[in-house]
Parts: sequence; structure tokens; C-alpha cells
Amino acid sequence: LSSTIQLANGVAMPRLGLGVWKAEEGKEAAQAVQWAIETGYQLIDTAAVYKNEKSVGEGIRAAGVPREELFITTKVWNDEQGYDSTLAAMDASLARLGLDYVDLYLIHWPVAGKYKETWRAMEKIYKDGKAKAIGVSNFHAHHLEDIMADAEIMPMVNQVELHPHLTQEPLREFCAKHNIVVEAWSPLGQGQLLTNDVLTTIGNKYGKTAAQVILRWDVQHNIVTIPKSVNQGRIKENASIFDFELTEEEMQLIDGLNQNARFGSDPDNFDF
Ligand code: A2P
Repeated sequence: LSSTIQLANGVAMPRLGLGVWKAEEGKEAAQAVQWAIETGYQLIDTAAVYKNEKSVGEGIRAAGVPREELFITTKVWNDEQGYDSTLAAMDASLARLGLDYVDLYLIHWPVAGKYKETWRAMEKIYKDGKAKAIGVSNFHAHHLEDIMADAEIMPMVNQVELHPHLTQEPLREFCAKHNIVVEAWSPLGQGQLLTNDVLTTIGNKYGKTAAQVILRWDVQHNIVTIPKSVNQGRIKENASIFDFELTEEEMQLIDGLNQNARFGSDPDNFDF
């Protein structure tokens, strides 16, 4: 299994990254990003609304790895959707990050009546080279269909809540059919799935933790995964998933944990 997956436009996206939702602006976020990059993470996933882009930029510079080896994602927040405001939001994020491009720019949530106009701005940002790839987050299949009906450039990624209690199989099938890579946020169920017996039992067989089993399940399903941690030991632990392989039977056991249960909001009922 290679450490990257190819997007529709040929860009190689790392299969594992660091999520920084809830990593505090300042030392906490900067330190986590630096530790992650020093551990070998290439993908860092932030968003304007996380209010830590400045610290993410500091962490990147502190790690001292060449820019082209990294894959940086950020997202346009709901209140900035619309054509001109999205263009401005991209520039503001780049300024805070201290970068002249991101690798992936996402629409954070499908704000009704706004996201199609926002997508036109994403296409412009892509053509201008400010984002090497563009995509969406928290989109159901019906939102994707709505965008794709008029898009010139198709979304390359859809980042959604996805973990063993919310396996998202129908959406994953839809995305596979349209060459959209699925990316999992809160892959560890915000840390709340890690005492599950099925996961710990499988982990014991390989000398791995429940967290590592979930992340390995993601990558074997071709799901890009971005566990959040601000702890150096857990950042390292979460990266150590490329030296074992789950059997087909174990994959199915984990698939079977699905409850269609969310920790976050349903995109159709999000309180915008
Ligand atoms: P911390 O940042 O202190 O490590 P998710 O990405 O699913 O939202 O999960 C993130 C939560 O899980 C955070 O509270 C994080 O806390 C915790 N976490 C991340 N990695 C691990 C791990 N390997 N083992 C236990 N908890 C973890």
C-alpha cells in the first residue's frame, strides 16, 4: 500500500494526515504540527474556522521541511461563502498560513443557496494555482450531484465524518463512481471508540492499539484519514499503521460496527 492516493487531477494526496480541529492557536497547534511533520506526516488539515492557521504556518516553518513535500489543506467557512468572499477568504487563509498556495481547499459545509456560487470561486482559485486541488466537506450525494450538474472542474475530495460507527458506505460508493476521494474527519470518533472490544481484540493480534486498527481500516478502504492529536506520543502512534495488514474478515468485522451514528452534525440539519 503506497502512502499516497491519486486525486482525479493526478495530484498525490497522503493517505494519513494530522487533523488540528480543537488544537489551540498558539503553542499547542504549532507544536503538534511540528511534531507531526518531524514524525513524517506530510498532510496537515486545518480550516479558517479552527482559528489556528497562523500557528499551523509556524509549525510548518519550525519543522523546516521543503514546502513541496507537504500537503496542506484548509477550508472556507460558512459565513464567507459566495464568489467574491470565497476568493478573499482564500487569500486571507494563505496570509495567515504564510503560504502562497495550499494543496487542497475545501468548502467546509454545504450552505444552502450559497455553495454553488462558492464552487465557481473554488474553480477560479484552482485555475489561479492557489490550490493544487479543490473539494468539499460534509456533502451528501445530493449536494455533490447539485454541484457536478454545473461544474467545470469536479470536486476531487469529500471530507466527511467517518468512523466505525458511521461507515458511510453509500456515500463512499457514490464518490468512488465519480472519482472523488473520501477523507475521514474524527476517524477515532473523537477518541470515543477506542475501548471497543472488536477493535482492541484485533489490535492485540498485531501489537497495535484500537486507534491504529481504525486508521489502518481507513487506508485499506482507500479513505484518507486525519486523526487529531496534540500529544507527541499519540501523534507517533497514529502514524505507525503501514507495517501491518488487516485480513478481509477483520475489515468486515469493523464494517459491521456501523450504527449510522454521528458525533457531529448532519449536513442536512446543520445550524448555519
Ligand atoms: P489528544 O489530542 O489529547 O491526543 P478524532 O480525530 O476522531 O476527532 O479524535 C481525536 C481525539 O482522540 C482527541 O481527543 C485526541 O486527544 C484523541 N486521540 C488521538 N489519537 C489518540 C490515540 N492514539 N489514542 C487515544 N486517544 C487519541
